[in-house]
Amino acid sequence: MRIAIIGSGSGTNARALCSHARDSASTYQVCLVISTKASAGIMGVAEEFDVPACVLEYSETFEQGVLEALLQHRIDVLLLAGLMRHLPMSIVQVMHGHVLNIHPSLLPLHGGKGMYGIHVHRAVLAAGDSVTGATVHVVTEEYDDGRIVAQDQLDIRTGESDVELQERVKALEHSLYPRAVDKFCAELAGRAFFEQNR
Ligand code: GRF
Repeated sequence: MRIAIIGSGSGTNARALCSHARDSASTYQVCLVISTKASAGIMGVAEEFDVPACVLEYSETFEQGVLEALLQHRIDVLLLAGLMRHLPMSIVQVMHGHVLNIHPSLLPLHGGKGMYGIHVHRAVLAAGDSVTGATVHVVTEEYDDGRIVAQDQLDIRTGESDVELQERVKALEHSLYPRAVDKFCAELAGRAFFEQNR
């Protein structure tokens, strides 16, 4: 499966995904990185792994630009990794359920609007949860609401800070996301999106 990664963060998940695709019998190859910021770490990851990359900032032409890039690179599956806004619905619809996201909690807990970055971990600690984790899910019209593809969890340590928890969940994400994408792509095998819709 030909995948694209879209985001604007530090790119640690993009690095884990690229590294897995290069070093293992992966079911996917990373064919495109889209960054919504020229300065984002994810651009450096694309360069490091020699993956074609483009910068598409949020503007009136963002939606069209993403759609054209996906078509041009014959992308089967789009992966969100640190995208700070909801993906435009036209893209979700065109990709027919072939869009995944990773969220730093055990969805359906601590998801939805405003739940991103450190806010998620603060909410987890404030709720007094004893476990947390990360979730890979299909992207739909609603925030953090689609079918769950995979989850990993960890025990929260006594006295752990939000920043410490964020770091440990990030590490969990780096092993979970490539495995979840492998599983998702294996399920889609023989039904490549681009081939179906040409
Ligand atoms: C991750 O924590 C992910 O859960 C969230 O955005 C963050 C992206 O971080 N959706 P990075 O850019 O992959 O380091």
